[in-house]
Amino acid sequence: MTIEKQLPSTRTTELDSICLKAEVIPVLAIQRIEDAVPLARALFEGGLTVLEITLRTDCALEAIKRINEALPQASIGVGTVLTPAQYRQAEEVGADFVVTPGTTEALYRYGVTSPVPMLPGVATVSELMTGWQYGYRRFKFFPAEASGGVKALKAFAGPIPEARFCPTGGIGINNAEDYLALKNVMCVGGSWLTPKSLIDAEDWDAIRSLAREAAERFHH
Ligand code: 3PG
Repeated sequence: MTIEKQLPSTRTTELDSICLKAEVIPVLAIQRIEDAVPLARALFEGGLTVLEITLRTDCALEAIKRINEALPQASIGVGTVLTPAQYRQAEEVGADFVVTPGTTEALYRYGVTSPVPMLPGVATVSELMTGWQYGYRRFKFFPAEASGGVKALKAFAGPIPEARFCPTGGIGINNAEDYLALKNVMCVGGSWLTPKSLIDAEDWDAIRSLAREAAERFHH
């Protein structure tokens, strides 16, 4: 396979410096706007300073604005970006990076023009090859467990050893280490750090402890 030269616009260095700050990226779906800041603060205080906030809920954009204001030192990824229009919304609310669950040509094309770097979601070598041709070198691997998990990532390293991944989907405290041990994994993500029962109970102390446990266990 001929691999095209990397385009500087895909901002691999920026993505690397964000992912280096945390081996674990909590994935948040904020249902109630009043939970946004206390939840993000609990994760941040627990030592997880890079957060992915998904556009899966009505108040997501407002939540991102408030979290950005309250925790300017946190790195905020806007997740579940499905279209270039949502990518632009993420830029407007001050995203540090954008995360997509899968990829379309439209997203790949938009991403190389945007000032905000994208972590495109891939599950197959073909999707990875398309992204690679656009210049992308860092990817989300989603849904990780359902798409072959650790074995798939090891296999990806055969044809495209330089690609690096943030796997998410089915990852938790018990299997995160298996992924982090791979050379082509830079960090892992997941919703296990934000259980709905603890958020509904506004148990921010418990969430801070979960974050601390993950931050200490998986520290670089
Ligand atoms: C994501 O968008 O990354 C996933 O929803 C996270 O997957 P998980 O809920 O299985 O951790």
